[in-house]
Amino acid sequence: MQLKGKNIYLRPLTEADATETYVSWMNDPQVNQYLESRFKKFTIGDIRSYITEINKDLNNVFFAMISIDGDKHIGNIKLGPINQYHRIGDIGLIIGDKTCWGKGYATEAIGLLKDYAFNKLNLHKLTAGCYADNIGSAKAFLKVGFVEEARLASHFRRNDDKYVDKICLGMINPAEATK
Ligand SMILES: CC(C)(COP(=O)(O)OP(=O)(O)OC[C@H]1O[C@@H](n2cnc3c(N)ncnc32)[C@H](O)[C@@H]1OP(=O)(O)O)[C@@H](O)C(=O)NCCC(=O)NCCS
Repeated sequence: MQLKGKNIYLRPLTEADATETYVSWMNDPQVNQYLESRFKKFTIGDIRSYITEINKDLNNVFFAMISIDGDKHIGNIKLGPINQYHRIGDIGLIIGDKTCWGKGYATEAIGLLKDYAFNKLNLHKLTAGCYADNIGSAKAFLKVGFVEEARLASHFRRNDDKYVDKICLGMINPAEATK
């Protein structure tokens, strides 16, 4: 299965995607500064097990982000956990290849996954959360149609020990917006 956009496409990850490059994204302090995964040092074995486990889990959908120009794995985007009763799911993403930042790829990936979640999985609502100073992340979600639903004051401790707000973003399926 593939979700195809203009500059990137999304496809499921396999264990073959657990490369040294992927490991280096997870351990890069610039890439992981806003991720809760940053407190652990990853190995290729960790990544391989994560892919295996998440692919077995029906409440998570995990996609590789591939740039169409060069057919290169540049990051990942996850929908999950999905709560099947409430029909809601959380989105998280990482563009590990820093040369690909600021090119609209996050906006495109979130847009593709949002369409899949609403039109194919028939979800009611999507959520996401980010550190308030992760401007690129917040903006990408807002551009796709998410709104800021709440701001949790002084919620996350950054690596420099300063506290920042958490922005809680959400988007209701437009076809169900009145429910
Ligand atoms: C945060 C991240 C997803 C943004 O991805 P991206 O592909 O660079 O984002 P986009 O190019 O779609 O940018 C969306 C908007 O944010 C802006 N933007 C992107 N990075 C920015 C930054 N560091 N500072 C300010 N604005 C930024 C873009 O200019 C664009 O706004 P515009 O359309 O008004 O010009 C990416 O940098 C990343 O994966 N970082 C590491 C992991 C991470 O933080 N994940 C998110 C956790 S919530």
